[in-house]
Amino acid sequence: MSSHKFPSPFFWGCSTSAHQIEGNVTNDWSEWEQSNARLQSLSTNGHEASDFISGASCESWNRFEEDIACLKQLGVNSYRFSIEWSRIEPIKGQFNQDAIKRYKRFIERLREEHIEPFVTLWHWPVPLWVRDQGGWLSKQTVEDFSSYTQFVATELKDLVTYWITINEPQVYTSQSYYAGLWPPQEKSIFKSLRVIKHLVEAHKAAYHVIKTIDAEAQIGLASHNIHFSAKQPWGINQLLAKMSSLFWNDWFLDQVDATQDFIGLNYYFHKSVDIHLGKKDRLVSDLGWELYPEGLEYVLKDLKRFNKPVYITEHGLADKDDRHREWYLKESLKHVRASIEAGVDVRGYFHWSLLDNFEWADGFFPRFGLFEVDRQTCKRTARPSVHVYKTIIEQNEV
Ligand code: FCB
Repeated sequence: MSSHKFPSPFFWGCSTSAHQIEGNVTNDWSEWEQSNARLQSLSTNGHEASDFISGASCESWNRFEEDIACLKQLGVNSYRFSIEWSRIEPIKGQFNQDAIKRYKRFIERLREEHIEPFVTLWHWPVPLWVRDQGGWLSKQTVEDFSSYTQFVATELKDLVTYWITINEPQVYTSQSYYAGLWPPQEKSIFKSLRVIKHLVEAHKAAYHVIKTIDAEAQIGLASHNIHFSAKQPWGINQLLAKMSSLFWNDWFLDQVDATQDFIGLNYYFHKSVDIHLGKKDRLVSDLGWELYPEGLEYVLKDLKRFNKPVYITEHGLADKDDRHREWYLKESLKHVRASIEAGVDVRGYFHWSLLDNFEWADGFFPRFGLFEVDRQTCKRTARPSVHVYKTIIEQNEV
């Protein structure tokens, strides 16, 4: 491999999730958005309540050909998206044939365009009946997630090789059950621990369900790993960084290690744990998130110990005016390449996101898309970074 090239083959792709782009879904999030929108519009300057309601979103449910056109324009050879549980199983035990047909049609179209699907089974919202039985606090939900997985994997087994069972268990649990910020807005360490336990069980069960249906399937989850840094490589700050990483980055992955064919990595954050040092001014995204490309190399190298293929299942930034995206993308990819040279088996990179979309409690204002989406017409328009990413993909180098 020359110093600028990526391995060949390499999966170049983009990521999205169902609730954020499909539009018109009914689940625990869509219901919760109503009260969040009222609160946000009271407290946030310049935003309407409707900015916090997913509503029609990008209408990807009906406009998937437009999404495929965007993917083709980029020249990606892979696409990560999620299946919406509440569409497939709106009522417990009753699987919706039209919904699964729509996903099948979509995946067939991806395949016709030589785009490998990476399918996420659960990217946060739950059907209303799951919410009503206690969500992930209920052991029953683990069993129900297995039946849902059984149905989806049976239907899609001939079309899908790469499966991501669950998205970012750490973020979901901490936001929804510890910090009380997302539905169901619990603030309990005991409930958080129970949810984590059930998510571990759900992942393991889903792994075995899929493997029984297709022994060749490649299965992982998407872990949200943070680069915790300390200025000096010794002392209390170093210890804090190590402990934070053990708890946040390693704990979940270690518990599911025997049931993962690959590691899915989502990288967004660097946190300096130094107690006494002032913060350096660094570039930030429209959400105020620090842009720290170096961190990606650190978190990748930490994954080497698993000795498994790694896919970067999410990485990107909110940048409406596309001011920093080119720089951030290129710098980050240089660090990916350096990690590969250091022996991490990175086999793919999925940029978050293909489209501007509904960014959870922050609504529509953060613009993560390579393609801008008009809020009124849903028209997709390439930002300049599309050409940057396209060139990287074409040349397989940065
Ligand atoms: C990740 C989520 C994804 C998106 C990005 C910005 O934590 O998995 O859905 O919201 O952040």
